[in-house]
Amino acid sequence: MKVGVLTGGGDVPGLNPAIRAVVIRLLDYGHDPVGLSRGWLGLIEGIAEPLTLESVDEIVSRGGTILGSSRTNPLKRDEDLDKCLDNVRALGVDAIVAIGGEDTLSVASNLHKLGVNTVGIPKTMDNDLSETDYTLGFDSAVNVAVDAVDRLRDTAKSHDRAIVLEVMGRHAGWVALYTGIAGGADWILIPEIAPDLDEMCEHLIGARSRGKMYAIVVASEGIDLPQAEEESISVDAFGHVILRERGVGDSLAGEIESRTGFETRSAVLGHIQRGGPPTMFDRVLGTMLGLKAADMVNSGEFGKMSAVRGDRIVAADMERAVSELKTVPIELYEEAKTLFK
Ligand code: F6P
Repeated sequence: MKVGVLTGGGDVPGLNPAIRAVVIRLLDYGHDPVGLSRGWLGLIEGIAEPLTLESVDEIVSRGGTILGSSRTNPLKRDEDLDKCLDNVRALGVDAIVAIGGEDTLSVASNLHKLGVNTVGIPKTMDNDLSETDYTLGFDSAVNVAVDAVDRLRDTAKSHDRAIVLEVMGRHAGWVALYTGIAGGADWILIPEIAPDLDEMCEHLIGARSRGKMYAIVVASEGIDLPQAEEESISVDAFGHVILRERGVGDSLAGEIESRTGFETRSAVLGHIQRGGPPTMFDRVLGTMLGLKAADMVNSGEFGKMSAVRGDRIVAADMERAVSELKTVPIELYEEAKTLFK
């Protein structure tokens, strides 16, 4: 079988280990893997390059993706969808392994309904795909963010300041929650729970009156602050608001300073969370998900994605995975809150 491999959406560390595993296992089966570059754009353009053992040698430790990525949505315009379907035939592609998040995999799921043999691999630093416990890139992103918290604590302490760290994660608070727990933050704000700034500031004032002269607040980019104005915010090809432009970290720092009187700064981590070498966890997860996806192609299990459940790698339904975002359960946030002291 000729098998197209593509990576779509925001890049993360862990994509290259997944590509490597898919290619190695497909070659072992005697299949013919080809790379489609820059996500679904590669299929629209109809360019496929052979993927060999040499192409994937040494990439297990590299961030980014050797295939390139884009947020191209081929379902947005009928002519792009037609090009995709024509190119599947023209290139002689028998199956496609799509590595991506909600957007990339919803395209894969829809193409499957139109007769294209697709298999998915869950990737997103946001960790918000259903049907899998973890997605590729989440662990690496959180490790970068925890390192940032450790550094911010040093400077916050030296200056008796409060510092807000704004992290990515879109409409799910996984990155903020895990960063805040692992970094020992004094408060965490996630999109799933409306921010109670009075409660947070009262807590920060209380901690300072007990002698803790600095504070670290981790805030997800997706939180809704009271009175935020968002008229001129842009959206991407899948209609997602570019959340970074809302500047919630800065606004929050302003609120903390005016409500508590503490000198407050903010830092926005942005794409630093998406670069650099994958952690051990993302290397192993990418490898295992990649091997499973290649097995699924070989056995004809299409319309599914490889997924992790506990310590098992399974085939999960791709449509279900993209139909509902996996958000942070309130109880988990409440548990984290008991650590704010
Ligand atoms: O979905 C992954 C993500 O990193 C989000 O956390 C963030 O809001 C968005 O992508 C940023 O997108 P871009 O790289 O297109 O600016």
